[in-house]
Amino acid sequence: MRKQIAASNWKMNLNLQKADELLQTVLTTVPKLKAHQQVIIAVPFPFLQMAKEKIATNSNFEIAAQNCHHKKSGAFTGEISTEMLQSICVNYCIVGHSERREYFLETNNQIAEKINLCLADQLAPIFCCGENLSVRDSENQNNFVKVQLSESLFHLSEDEIKKIIIAYEPIWAIGTGKTATANQVQQMHAHIRTVIAEKYGEVVANEISILYGGSVNAANAKEIFNCQDVDGGLVGGASLKAVDFVEIISGLK
Ligand code: PGA
Repeated sequence: MRKQIAASNWKMNLNLQKADELLQTVLTTVPKLKAHQQVIIAVPFPFLQMAKEKIATNSNFEIAAQNCHHKKSGAFTGEISTEMLQSICVNYCIVGHSERREYFLETNNQIAEKINLCLADQLAPIFCCGENLSVRDSENQNNFVKVQLSESLFHLSEDEIKKIIIAYEPIWAIGTGKTATANQVQQMHAHIRTVIAEKYGEVVANEISILYGGSVNAANAKEIFNCQDVDGGLVGGASLKAVDFVEIISGLK
């Protein structure tokens, strides 16, 4: 079975004390998970060390960075390199989140550079893709996501693409309370898998975990996660409440 993943994205929220408390509550209340189920907590850079130490007690948990820089090193004041993340034993990194694309003008090509650096430094990228409302309204979402995939990922080898976790996050559903329907989610996830299969073959496509993100909450997670091509979620707002996030984790297949 493909890995089923509940990933949280805390974004720029909390402080060290509140983050510690939230993680502690999640860890002490989460039910025992199966081997194929995983929780990945994407925390702000200053909390990585604390979070890494805390999750060491639960082998189903991993920590992720929310971003990395697209150059290896150098005069980029305030930026964080993949080598820095690797050196503190972070194993995952979100890449190409729509907020980074929108507010920091990240392009598909830059995201491809980040993916390459992540893989070179043994970080598994959680690659985000997804269309905005006008693309969805014009029914061009399938092609839009295909271009995102091909421009940022399709230079990778078969072995490399297998290390990627894909998160489909329609921008119109992020932080809006407007979740895509299970049907819309399944259709897009099946499309993404088909596009990967066309390039890398079905065996590879069937190995890649594809998460859904966009207003996942305790009430809708299970229905969405149950869709055939959905392998869990990337959760923002609802991951800031321990009870809600634990309920979401419990919805994994
Ligand atoms: P949301 O955010 O769950 O608050 O909609 C999801 C995300 O941006 O990853």
